[in-house]
Amino acid sequence: GGTSSRGSYPLPPWFNSMRESMRRLTQTLRRRSGAAKLTHAARRSHSTQTSAAMEREFTSKHARAMGLQKLLRDYGSRSTSPLSINQMYDFGQYDAPGRNRATTLLAAAQFVHEELPVRCSHLIQDLMTLPFGLSQNSAIQEVVELFHTTIREIIADPRPKSSEEEEKLRLKIMGMLRRHRNIVTHMRSALAGDLLSSEEKLQLQPFLDRFYATRIGNRTMLAHYVQLGEEPQEDWVGLINDKCRISQVVQNAYGIAVDVCRYHHDINPPALTLLGSTECELRYFESHIEYLLTEILHNSIYSTWKHHSPEDSKQVCPPLPAITVIIADGKDDISISISDQGGGFGRKHLNSIWTHLHFPEEDFTHHSTKAIEKDQIKFAANEDECSPLINGYSRHSPRLARNGLPVCRLYARHFGGDLTIQVMENHGTDVFVTIPKDGEVPEALPESLVGEVELA
Ligand SMILES: Nc1ncnc2c1ncn2[C@@H]1O[C@H](COP(=O)(O)OP(=O)(O)OP(=O)(O)O)[C@@H](O)[C@H]1O
Ligand SMILES: [Mg+2]
Repeated sequence: GGTSSRGSYPLPPWFNSMRESMRRLTQTLRRRSGAAKLTHAARRSHSTQTSAAMEREFTSKHARAMGLQKLLRDYGSRSTSPLSINQMYDFGQYDAPGRNRATTLLAAAQFVHEELPVRCSHLIQDLMTLPFGLSQNSAIQEVVELFHTTIREIIADPRPKSSEEEEKLRLKIMGMLRRHRNIVTHMRSALAGDLLSSEEKLQLQPFLDRFYATRIGNRTMLAHYVQLGEEPQEDWVGLINDKCRISQVVQNAYGIAVDVCRYHHDINPPALTLLGSTECELRYFESHIEYLLTEILHNSIYSTWKHHSPEDSKQVCPPLPAITVIIADGKDDISISISDQGGGFGRKHLNSIWTHLHFPEEDFTHHSTKAIEKDQIKFAANEDECSPLINGYSRHSPRLARNGLPVCRLYARHFGGDLTIQVMENHGTDVFVTIPKDGEVPEALPESLVGEVELA
């Protein structure tokens, strides 16, 4: 339910005035080119042949004439349209009454065509108002330019009205997903290091939370749309699994986490004990849950190994205590607890695990942030270019950013869930993830802070 009006999505205010001036211009052009002298029938066929091309040409010219600044202001003043999982599921269903593959894709494309420039404008506004002179930083400017290009590319063609135009947009979107794949790494390289003091980095935290949350929303929306164009699979609509079985996702995540740990360290991983409602299923973006469980299990595997392995590497490592995952199937939420005996950490660190930017003076990380080689970035980026994930994390690639837990929490919160941590220093860590079951919570898309918060 709730998506029947999707096809008639409200147009922005400037769209109608642009349409009107476009109609007038088309008439003038037709008159000047002598079309007015044509017979009635010929005129009709003439106008249908050329109006699409004229409209397209006019729109791109108009966009250029309006100037990017004005466009950004117009789009940036509009609110984003956050969707719930159920809405994204419903509007992606081909077999709903009165729908087929073509109409479904067209409706999704029209939504993306309206929504993406708005979301990008909000991101640009945020980047341009960054404090500490960061908006002048060349890496930040490159990121801004990427979003400018996206907006320009989207509005170069009018709102898609046919399957051909829809497909053209979908191809463009795939290109964008690829090009934007490494923005998080890019941002990090701009903001990490000693450019900023620790105090300044802390002040950037709300910005980064919002920036990453918006990126999660954008990539999810776009990758979901792209996936709708692929061959449908049973129980799946785009990237949403209607029967996402949590115990299966835990097993997959554990497998990936073990592989990633082994990539970095020569370890024998602790076993996994899975308890509770192992049968429970829900409708969700499965990759979101897999991503955050992989990060959490990766931390648990590494800590358990580190805490229990003998100082002298020649000694045999004793059997490691298992990681226990409990799944609870409640009325409103599914809860997952992940408990390890990896020694935990001191409570004074509980706040700093949520900071996106690593402080160089802090020797409190699982592994030193390795220098990022250019070819490593490419390697990770090529793995799954249209993935909804914002971090280059995959089974075979090295980690690129140290923002595991803060980004995990954003994924958990994106559709109304949460992620919390309890530590028992010198014993172990418990991580709790809760996910609402009904799929009705609209995605957490932060509005631009501009005008609301005074930035230093
Ligand atoms: N299960 C755990 N046991 C002990 N310490 C943990 C655990 N989970 C997290 N930590 C501590 O919290 C820090 C932050 O974790 P987070 O996953 O965000 O980053 P990281 O593991 O250091 O780097 P990355 O995940 O990006 O590779 C870790 O460096 C570690 O000190
Ligand atoms: Mg980690």
